[in-house]
Amino acid sequence: MAGIYIHIPFCRKACHYCDFHFSTTLNLVDKVVDAIVIEAEKRKSYLSEPIETIYFGGGTPSLLSNAQLEKITKAVHKHFLIKDDIEFTLEANPDDLTLDKVKFLASIGVNRLSIGTQSFNDRVLKFLNRSHTANQTLQAVELCKSYGIKNISLDLIYGIPDQSGEQWKTNLEALVALKPTHISCYALTIEDKTVFGNWLKKGKITAVEDDTVTEEYEVMVDFFTSLNYKHYEVSNFAKPGYISQHNSSYWHQKPYLGLGPGAHSFNGSSRQFNVLSNPTYCKQIVANNKPYKIESLSLKEQLTEFIFTRIRTNWGINFNEVYQLFNYQLSFKQLTYIDTLVSKKMATFANNVLILNSKGFFISDSVALELIPT
Ligand SMILES: C[S@@+](CC[C@H](N)C(=O)[O-])C[C@H]1O[C@@H](n2cnc3c(N)ncnc32)[C@H](O)[C@@H]1O
Ligand code: SF4
Repeated sequence: MAGIYIHIPFCRKACHYCDFHFSTTLNLVDKVVDAIVIEAEKRKSYLSEPIETIYFGGGTPSLLSNAQLEKITKAVHKHFLIKDDIEFTLEANPDDLTLDKVKFLASIGVNRLSIGTQSFNDRVLKFLNRSHTANQTLQAVELCKSYGIKNISLDLIYGIPDQSGEQWKTNLEALVALKPTHISCYALTIEDKTVFGNWLKKGKITAVEDDTVTEEYEVMVDFFTSLNYKHYEVSNFAKPGYISQHNSSYWHQKPYLGLGPGAHSFNGSSRQFNVLSNPTYCKQIVANNKPYKIESLSLKEQLTEFIFTRIRTNWGINFNEVYQLFNYQLSFKQLTYIDTLVSKKMATFANNVLILNSKGFFISDSVALELIPT
């Protein structure tokens, strides 16, 4: 099983918290689209297996015109062997989801939308500098459901400054009222080179206390799981049958090809990182140069990645598999640490498989640090 990721590095507005790769200058959109089409052809041999997932991410893929989206989708179908019943996801911002856009997306095979909801409070959306209102989100979701795209993932952010517990609960209720099949919920991280990073340095905002973030996380987990959403990865919840196939393949170290500025690719033993800058990416492609750097992963690095990604999922880490793949066994000290996690009711450990529960997920990175080789 393999996947294709296409990075669309453009947004209408820069959200105050986001340091993903995107530009709000839209004059290069056509050039980047054309370069992605060329890149798809040049890298058609990268994946030998049939494609089971396609994922347009960003940035904001929904701001592309129908013609631009069609161009890329056709190129992907032309150069890769695409299975019939693929999961085809596109990340969208609510303000882009007009009737025409939704119908068009369904017509090119998009069968899953990941919609950047973030909050259902207009004051908070404004504070985050989002390009939409809560009402636009409600309308967008209803439109998608009415016009054939029923597999809908909604994103939320918690740990936002000046948000009361009551407001957080109201947000959760508004979100589930839309009956999404999948939910991604991220703790706000305040990144250095963002407006929030700058405001934090100047004392214009204060980071939310750890205890408040923990409380919001716990309220969210209890609420979603009580409604039959499975907490299957630290930041992700799904109704039965709706886990994200594309993201799950990252967490299972499956191969994928990333097209577009800043996209990565992975083939099991090495990663390729496309150049971030949009103009440089276009120039490299036009000049027939490789737009990426290759980083080979040593066995130790592969093992570290394996532990860091698997521990975040409810498939957990099978240490028999770890031994077979990496010839690595846990030390006595590490086994004692696992016993502590189990006694604190943060994990289960049976048949050499360690699985964190929601309580454990919250500290998954520090758990991984204890389990990796020194
Ligand atoms: C990079 S966006 C791309 C999709 C789309 N543009 C959107 O805004 O939803 C993917 C997700 O990452 C989240 N995100 C980006 N930066 C973040 C940060 N510093 N803290 C928490 N979530 C963040 C966004 O809010 C969004 O839900
Ligand atoms: S969160 Fe999404 S819309 Fe906002 S700047 Fe980042 S990529 Fe763009």
